[in-house]
Formats: sequence, structure tokens, C-alpha cells
Amino acid sequence: MIHTEGLSKTFTRKKQLVHAVKAVDLDIAPGELVAFLGPNGAGKSTTLRMLTSLLRPSAGTAKVVGADVRTEPALVRRRIGYIGQGNGAGHNYRVIDELHVQGSFYGLSPAVSRERADALLPALQLDGLEKRPVMSLSGGQRRRLDVAMGLMNHPALLFLDEPSTGMDPQGRANLWEHITTMREDLGMTLVLTTHYLEEADDMAERVIVIDHGTVIADDSPEQLKLDHADDVVTLSFHSSDEAELAEQALRTDGRHADSLDVRTPETLVITTDHGARKLPSILYLLDAAGAPPAAATIREATLDDVFLHLTGRSLRESTEQDTPASGSPTAANATNGVDAA
Ligand SMILES: Nc1ncnc2c1ncn2[C@@H]1O[C@H](COP(=O)(O)OP(=O)(O)OP(=O)(O)O)[C@@H](O)[C@H]1O
Ligand SMILES: [Mg+2]
Repeated sequence: MIHTEGLSKTFTRKKQLVHAVKAVDLDIAPGELVAFLGPNGAGKSTTLRMLTSLLRPSAGTAKVVGADVRTEPALVRRRIGYIGQGNGAGHNYRVIDELHVQGSFYGLSPAVSRERADALLPALQLDGLEKRPVMSLSGGQRRRLDVAMGLMNHPALLFLDEPSTGMDPQGRANLWEHITTMREDLGMTLVLTTHYLEEADDMAERVIVIDHGTVIADDSPEQLKLDHADDVVTLSFHSSDEAELAEQALRTDGRHADSLDVRTPETLVITTDHGARKLPSILYLLDAAGAPPAAATIREATLDDVFLHLTGRSLRESTEQDTPASGSPTAANATNGVDAA
């Protein structure tokens, strides 16, 4: 579906070079659900805009659904759907007009456009809103309209740039339900960007972590967490004597000796992978040693731990410090920020 080699983009801003994307090599197979995860300014949107042929690469090559983004941009655009960051829909139109305009943009006949719009409106819970001006929709409805627009040409490959940013958890869950249903119905490959860690973890089958324009990790969320992060098992005891006894038992046993820490005189901490799977044998061991804990908790590894391990920074903090404003160069959509013919 996607093959890139050395894909790069350099911008000039105030006479300074900005290396937004640096030599990205990618292979994405049909049917994959891939999320680009990274902080503000990491190069997620720039990568997507090159892959959708909206932005001309400074170096490197990209083939998308068999077409070259440099030499066959029109073919690329016919074969993909793209939902940009921020809203693509023109605010003065009615919902139904937006869908028809999008259909004709993709070269669909009015009859086919009507048929697709009629199917997409209920699928994305927009039925009854056909005649409403886009301006009057809620944020969640508008984002679902964006998704409907991206699906008008039944693309084999759909790009979604921050599909759920700014939505409440309920709206986000709904949107995901629609997206995953459409994915199954149409057999689509999905490539999206997000800086919601939980969203990437829950929804994506493959997470590409990008930072300062470079891919720094690429795997399933489960494998990323196994490779780069640990669960934390905390054992609390009634007294420091019991905690000491437990510590001795664990050190003698040896399996967790290296990952064992005494946090307070009454609290032991074990840093390990598969914490939930290992906890029963730890409890069994402590029970046999006559030092069962009063309480045991597990904090599971997160993708933020992965990012922290890889970069020394928390993704949560990197992202919160610099919230994107709409209208910034990063808030591109299908109609602005186009510099490739
Ligand atoms: N048109 C442009 N001109 C100059 N610099 C740009 C332009 N577009 C993006 N950049 C810069 O390139 C870098 C990558 O931006 P990009 O929009 O790809 O980041 P992002 O990962 O999508 O971030 P966000 O999470 O905020 O959407 C940033 O430093 C950004 O300021
Ligand atoms: Mg972006």
C-alpha cells in the first residue's frame, strides 16, 4: 500500500532550514491499521501530506497504492481518502452539498455521489442533518462529516490526521466505532496520526513513533511496551519487619532480585514485564515465606513510558506544552497547504 525510501521534507522558515521529516523508510501492507504517534511538530502531518501528494518531498521517494507521489499525484489522490488536521468542510455549505462537492472532486457521477452520500450519512450518524449548514454542527458531528467526505470515493487507503483531537471521550469512542466498522465494510488500510497515547494503544495494530522528523520505533503497541517499558508491581506490608522478610525471600528466590526496590520501609516495588502474569507466583512465594503483602497493585506499562525510554521526554508533557492552534502551518487540510500540482 505504501512504500517510501528516504522520504524527507525541509522547509525554509525565516531563512532557517526546518528539517520536518528526515529520511523516512516505510512499508505498509494492505489492511494494516497504523498510527503515527509523536509530539507537536514531530513531522506527522508533513509525512501524511507527502504521502497524499499534497506536499512535494524534498528528497526520497514514495509509492502509494501503486502510484508515485511525485510523478502521479492525480492517481494517488484518486486512490486514497484524506482527512486533514482541522476541518475540511466549508462552513457555509449544507452537509449534503459538501458530500456532493467532494464526490465530484473525486470524479464521481451525481448519481453515484448521491448513492454514496445516502449510505454514509446513516453510517456516520449524520442522518437528519443533511440540510443543516456545516457551521451549525457540533465538533463531533463536523468531524464525522470530515470522515464521510474522506470515504466518498471508497478508498483502499484512508489517511486521517488527528481524527479525534478536541473530541470528548464519548465522541471519540463513537468516531472510532464508525471508523472501524467502515474499515471492515470496505476492507480499508488506515493510516492515522494522534498524540493521544491511549488511542494509539487501544486502536492501532502498529504504532510508528516519530520524533524530530525521525522514526524512532515501529511495532505493535504490545511489543513496544515489552521492548521499552516495564510494569510496576507494588507490594505493601503491614510492618517493616514483614517487608524485610519478604525482601529476603525475593532475593533468595532470585527471579526478581535485579528488579526489586525498597521504596519505603513497608513498600517493595518490582519492575518487570508481564507484571500481571508474574504476580501470582510472587504472592505464592511470599505466602510460603510467611510474609504475604497487605496489598498488591500493578501499574501497566504505557506508550508514554516507551516514549520516555526512547527520548528521555514524556510525550504527554511534550504535547501539552505546545498545543496547536488552528490556522497554524500544522493545521492543514485538503484545500490549503497544497504546494504540489
Ligand atoms: N509550511 C510549513 N512551513 C514551515 N515549516 C513548517 C511547515 N509545515 C510544517 N512545518 C514545520 O515542520 C515541523 C513538523 O510539522 P508537522 O505539522 O508535520 O508536525 P506534527 O507532528 O503534525 O505536529 P502536530 O501534532 O502539532 O500536528 C514543525 O517544526 C513545523 O513547524
Ligand atoms: Mg499535525
